[in-house]
Amino acid sequence: TARLGVIGDPIEHSKSPDIHAAFGRQLGIELDYQKFRVTAPELTRFLSEFFAGGGRGLNVTVPHKESVYEWVGAHSDAARVAGACNTLIAESGGVSGDNTDGAGLVLDLRRLGTTLSGARVLVLGAGGAARGAMGPLLAENPACLQVCNRTQARAETLIAQCGGQLWQPGEAAFDLVIGASSAGLSAQSVTLPAGAVDSNTLVYDMIYGAEPTALMRAGVDAGAGAVADGLGMLVGQAAEAFERWFGQLPDAGPVLEQLRRSL
Ligand code: ATR
Repeated sequence: TARLGVIGDPIEHSKSPDIHAAFGRQLGIELDYQKFRVTAPELTRFLSEFFAGGGRGLNVTVPHKESVYEWVGAHSDAARVAGACNTLIAESGGVSGDNTDGAGLVLDLRRLGTTLSGARVLVLGAGGAARGAMGPLLAENPACLQVCNRTQARAETLIAQCGGQLWQPGEAAFDLVIGASSAGLSAQSVTLPAGAVDSNTLVYDMIYGAEPTALMRAGVDAGAGAVADGLGMLVGQAAEAFERWFGQLPDAGPVLEQLRRSL
């Protein structure tokens, strides 16, 4: 039985154990996936003991994604660009770190029928969530990938490091607008950049919930053709992590449906 888990603080509400248990059943792989509340001072000791004890891999969530990046011996390109890891993998030579958030986003956009190649894409936000998405989005060859952030200097830094262009007022509408700002977590309403949305636009929020998110509501008000929340991205990043551990990519669809009903 493969020993796996997710570490974070807080961790109580993590859906990862349910998601990975469902993937294991789907593919007939036996696994023991636990959630572990690990505080910052406990982090390195926990990691050493978990992997010394034969652990196969870990998912990592807030507030440890950047710290584990420093701890692991090797990084994927995605982890390097993000400067953060959400997935750790036990290898013969040590523990390597990957970041599957961006790949999970792309997987979910594909599930929704989005064609990224040649698309005009706008990312809202320039923090950690946006950073993780830039590389995987650019790899799909969009016509353009623009960034709009409350603090313009932070958007410029992100673009200098990850690519893309700064959104400017007067830009034409986008095929895809991706919410990667934490504004929607606290704000009752969020504003979309002027003219960014038309009836062909998919407004995709990385945040999810039982009810439509503030960005999804703003998208509907602006006449977006479709809106979606980030629950599928959560399942997608998990599917990509599972693939790193076991070499098989689970089907996210049925697990997503099950999770949606439980919200
Ligand atoms: P995360 O890891 O979730 O991306 P982060 O790195 O702290 O978190 O980044 C938060 C992002 O949400 C930033 O782009 C931030 O904008 P600033 O760079 O201007 O701070 C954005 N954000 C947070 N609260 C916001 C708000 N009320 N309105 C607009 N943007 C907000």
